[in-house]
Formats: sequence, C-alpha cells, structure tokens
Amino acid sequence: MPRKTNAIQEDTMGRFEGKVAVVTGAGAGIGKACALAIAREGGRVVVADIDGSGAIACTAQIKAEAGHALALAMDIADAQAVAALFETAERHFGGVDLLVNNASAMHLTPRDCAILDLDLAVWDQTIATNLRGTLLCCRQAIPRMIARGGGAIVNMSSCQGLSGDTAQTSYAASKAATNMLSASLATQYGHAQIRCNAVAPGLIMTERLLAKLDECMQRHLRRHQLLPRVGRPEDVASLVAFLLSDDAAFITGQVVCIDGGMLAHVPTYADGGNSRAARPAGDTAEAAAAPRC
Ligand SMILES: NC(=O)c1ccc[n+]([C@@H]2O[C@H](COP(=O)([O-])OP(=O)(O)OC[C@H]3O[C@@H](n4cnc5c(N)ncnc54)[C@H](O)[C@@H]3O)[C@@H](O)[C@H]2O)c1
Repeated sequence: MPRKTNAIQEDTMGRFEGKVAVVTGAGAGIGKACALAIAREGGRVVVADIDGSGAIACTAQIKAEAGHALALAMDIADAQAVAALFETAERHFGGVDLLVNNASAMHLTPRDCAILDLDLAVWDQTIATNLRGTLLCCRQAIPRMIARGGGAIVNMSSCQGLSGDTAQTSYAASKAATNMLSASLATQYGHAQIRCNAVAPGLIMTERLLAKLDECMQRHLRRHQLLPRVGRPEDVASLVAFLLSDDAAFITGQVVCIDGGMLAHVPTYADGGNSRAARPAGDTAEAAAAPRC
C-alpha cells in the first residue's frame, strides 16, 4: 500500500487510518511536524499547545490538506487542563490510540545553569512541565488506550538526557527522567498492548531554536555531528511516526537517538580535524574557517 508523504490524500491508506492521536506542543517545531505527519497518514489529531494561535495554525494546515484535527489551548503542567484535553479527544474523536508527549519547558543558560547557581524556581518549573506534565498525559491516555485494545506513546526526550552538560541542569534531568518514565510505562502496560518509547533529538533547527541560539553556538554544535547538515523537525517526525505505527509493533521501552551522530563518537572527534578529513568540500571550508567558539 503506498504511503502518503506529502499532502493528505483521500485515495491512499495511511498507517494511522482510524486512529486518534494527541500531540502536545503541536503548535510549532517538532510537535507540529509530528501532527502533520500523523494526519498525512490518516490519523485524526488533537493539536494541543499552550500557544492557542500556534495550535489553530497547525490545525488549519491539516484541514487545508483534507485531514482531521482539533486545536486546543492548554498547559501540560495543569492537571485539570490535561484531563480536559483527553476528555475533548474522546468526545470529539471517540477515544485515544496514540500520544506524542512533545511539549517542554526549556530555559537556556543563564537561567537553567550549573547546579550551585541554579534558581530552584527554574528547576521546579522545568520538572513540573517536562516530567510531571508528561506523566499527567500518560495517566490520562493509558486507560483510554486499554479501552481500545492498546496504543502507542512517544515521549520527546533529548540527547541532553543522555550526557552531562555544563548548564541546563534542570532540562537534562527532566529528559533523563522521561527516559525512565518511558521504560516504566512500557514495562507496566506492555501486557495491555501499549508500547512506549522515548525519542532523543540532537540539534534540530526549529524556528524558535534558530532565534535562541547564536550562529557561533549553532556552528559549535554542528561540528560535533557526523552528518554534514542540521536536523529538521521532519526528521524527528518520521521517526515518531515509525515508532507510533505498526511498523514498530515489537519495539518498546527504548530511547532512540536522532542526532546526526552527535553522541556516537569519541569526545575528541570535533577537535581532531573531522571537518578537514571527512566532510564534503563546501562544508569543510565553512567548518575549517569557523572560529572555535
Ligand atoms: N529542537 C531541538 O533541537 C530539540 C533537541 C532535543 C529535544 N527537543 C525536544 O523536542 C520537543 C519540541 O521542541 P521544539 O524544538 O520543537 O520546541 P518549540 O519551542 O519549537 O515548540 C514547542 C511547542 O511546545 C509548546 N509548549 C511549551 N510549553 C508548553 C506547555 N506547558 N503546554 C503545552 N504546550 C507547550 C510551545 O508553545 C511550542 O509550540 C521538546 O520536548 C524539546 O525538549 C528539541
């Protein structure tokens, strides 16, 4: 059966035909790409975001491509709002089969910094949103998935949940804990045909990240990748769609990195001349000329 990869087409079957998905943080970036990917393969999507205008814009794009979606403005850190999100999904689309816990709070340095300098309010807010918010969504989804004979969950983690850093202590801890939450869920509800995996992106160039990271930092991060291009939201959406689909029917409890190889090499890779030896000419020149900032 041909798969839909671009605009939604009524005449071909997709992997999510008949499925209902909830995607949090779907008003922008990776979450939006995930919502579009699911809708393009026939899924009906509840597009949840703290930014209502982003959720509405994503829903409008899905509908313009003849897909089915519903926008909801909500905060995943608010238990009542999370309950209302899943009640709405059930009322509007009849249940929940798929969940992408993508929304996150992320404070860059200097707010989310090294342990001794860290403002505990930043720690509390990050954990409350990223970890507790993800747990709240899972707790709403699990009984509804059981009622439909199973389901699939992807929790958005990060490479920063797999390695130490000089800053972003709260964010990294929340993502590492998300990995274990995913493994616990997979362990506890696999018998009920619920699969749960975590996806750990490296540097993915969303509009908001582009605005936050200066050129020097972007170049620095790219130098540590093995592949000579930046990651895109659609790269992550393809992986999420695979993990949600029956193509991944025997995969659960895993943390899957999607980072262009950032975590796959020895720490000396970037400083050891990778750009001169192994990269295509255009990229080599750029990387070689770049200040080591
Ligand atoms: N972009 C990257 O390089 C990267 C790398 C690693 C991990 N991630 C993870 O991927 C996910 C998406 O990141 P992104 O780069 O697309 O971010 P983004 O800022 O582009 O989009 C995040 C969306 O989530 C929404 N959101 C934020 N807090 C929310 C809340 N409390 N409740 C509901 N919605 C909320 C925002 O309004 C926004 O629309 C996050 O979990 C992030 O930690 C991203």
